Amino acid sequence: MDNGPTADLVVWSVLSLIVLLAGTGALFAVYGRWSASIGWHSAEAPAISFKQPGEVALTPGQRATAWFFFTIAGLFVVQALVGAAAEHYRADTLSFFGLDLARLLPYNLARTWHVQLSLFWTAAGFLAAGIFLTPFIAGREPKKQSVLIYVLFGAVVLVVVGSLLSEALSIHGVSWAKGPIFAQQWEYIDLPRVWQALLTLGLFIWIAIIYRGMRSRLKGESKGNMPWMFFFSALAIPGFYAVGMLANTGTHLSVADFWRFWVVHLWVEDFLELFTTVMVAYIFVMLGVVRERIALGIIFLDVILYSVGGVIGTMHHLYFSGTPVEHMALGAFFSAGEVIPLTFLTIEAWSFLQLGARQEKRSSGPFPHRWAVMFLVAVGFWNFLGAGVFGFLINLPIVSYYEIGTALTANHAHASMMGVYGMLAVGLALFALRYIIPADKWPERLAKLCFWSLNLGLAWMVFATLLPLGIIQLYASVNEGYFEARSINFLTTPGNRLLEWARMPGDLVFIIGGCLPFLWITWQGLRHFRKGTTTYELPQDVLFTEKHPVAASAGPTDV
Ligand code: HEM
Ligand SMILES: [Fe+2]
Repeated sequence: MDNGPTADLVVWSVLSLIVLLAGTGALFAVYGRWSASIGWHSAEAPAISFKQPGEVALTPGQRATAWFFFTIAGLFVVQALVGAAAEHYRADTLSFFGLDLARLLPYNLARTWHVQLSLFWTAAGFLAAGIFLTPFIAGREPKKQSVLIYVLFGAVVLVVVGSLLSEALSIHGVSWAKGPIFAQQWEYIDLPRVWQALLTLGLFIWIAIIYRGMRSRLKGESKGNMPWMFFFSALAIPGFYAVGMLANTGTHLSVADFWRFWVVHLWVEDFLELFTTVMVAYIFVMLGVVRERIALGIIFLDVILYSVGGVIGTMHHLYFSGTPVEHMALGAFFSAGEVIPLTFLTIEAWSFLQLGARQEKRSSGPFPHRWAVMFLVAVGFWNFLGAGVFGFLINLPIVSYYEIGTALTANHAHASMMGVYGMLAVGLALFALRYIIPADKWPERLAKLCFWSLNLGLAWMVFATLLPLGIIQLYASVNEGYFEARSINFLTTPGNRLLEWARMPGDLVFIIGGCLPFLWITWQGLRHFRKGTTTYELPQDVLFTEKHPVAASAGPTDV
């Protein structure tokens, strides 16, 4: 039977390119006309002085997040190590430096854990960051909030440990652990049913914590203002995770994949982008660097731009799952549109970078969040490169037809998942830990090492191995066939094996220079989280003080 590329495949691929071109042009035009009112502006922000970490009192709930951050870093280390093991099996299929590691940790277990942990630790990072920001937004913390936070922490630990163990037992063939309750095998939501249900419940406990913390603040606010945006964008996270429950082990693959990608795709390409924007915008408002009105403008622009492409763009995961051709066409069209806001990030990069710097000149104290902000800059960079460029590389139906499930997918997945949400989780953790760790104990140089190692290590991984290997595989797939390009024979040719080994220096930099320092920093947070002033009521301008105009204009005498 002929299974070649169809006319639809080619025509819609070409047309989707045009969407990107036309859309980018349109956005440039809009920006050209309204650049004064779109995007990150700090010019009209008041002259302020940043409060230094030792001067900011925290609530008991905020202090409790130190437990989350330490756990997240631990999971991150484990994720990177099992990832390295999985990668090793590709470079050397026979042994792990003479050890028969695969008996204990077979490839499929290493891979399952690796993918699963990537979602666990980054998502836990958002939970913790949301909890940390809430009292700053609300201006107070209700009594006993920290009890709920510890309950959530316990639930998260239980789910993580429980699901990793169940997967191991199931893969090792323990008979009672094989059934649908303990293994689902839908990648990304392959956590066993019981744990999946518990995790969904846990995410709703998180929403309850956020709601309880913000209730007093939400009361007086219009639904279109920032506190509600924060709450709504948080609510979308458990809401769209819960949808994954609609697929179970008996569901047909094409249907299961539909729901699976509601979670995977809509989470990362719409709701997490949105929650990210809201959190980042809020952080800069709290620091007194941008005005709330400007931040709100950015949030609304994002809601529109991400959702226009992102929602229907989900279908780019389902090009070939047996749906009518319209789905492929719509998927290609709308997900090409997703790249438009990501391209726009490059225009904004400079003004974003300048945000803290400009205010620092006017502030009497230094800007305390250099490395947290650098991580946010990295989020923008990888959003453009990893999600935008590398995502688009595999987004045309005709490319996807040849490459799906090759190193080009891994190239995009690493550059976007680690690049955007990994960097974000680390950046948010550093932001919070800057206040949790006593000022004199803050390891600034380790934060710097961690930043550069994670970014260079990731760049090495994609440019030394995943991208070149993916292109070689794509070529082989078009030239010889898809099956051949994915066969073990092809992957273990001397040249390709060398490419797999070429990853190693980058991976070592990533783990030793990046993950371990992060673990150490979070450990400092856990050691010291009870020190410092604790309060239930926070001042209105919580992270800065506004300078009096008189003092600001006092000039040379004001030394
Ligand atoms: C930060 C945002 C993004 C993240 C975290 C992300 C993450 C991922 C991950 C982990 C996969 C692998 C899924 C699997 O194993 O089946 C994937 C696949 C894919 N992504 Fe993204 N993505 C992002 C943005 C984008 C964008 C903007 C586009 C389109 C321009 C895109 C297009 C695709 C396509 C077409 C696939 C399917 C690839 C294949 O199966 O060969 N992604 N993405
Ligand atoms: Fe997607």
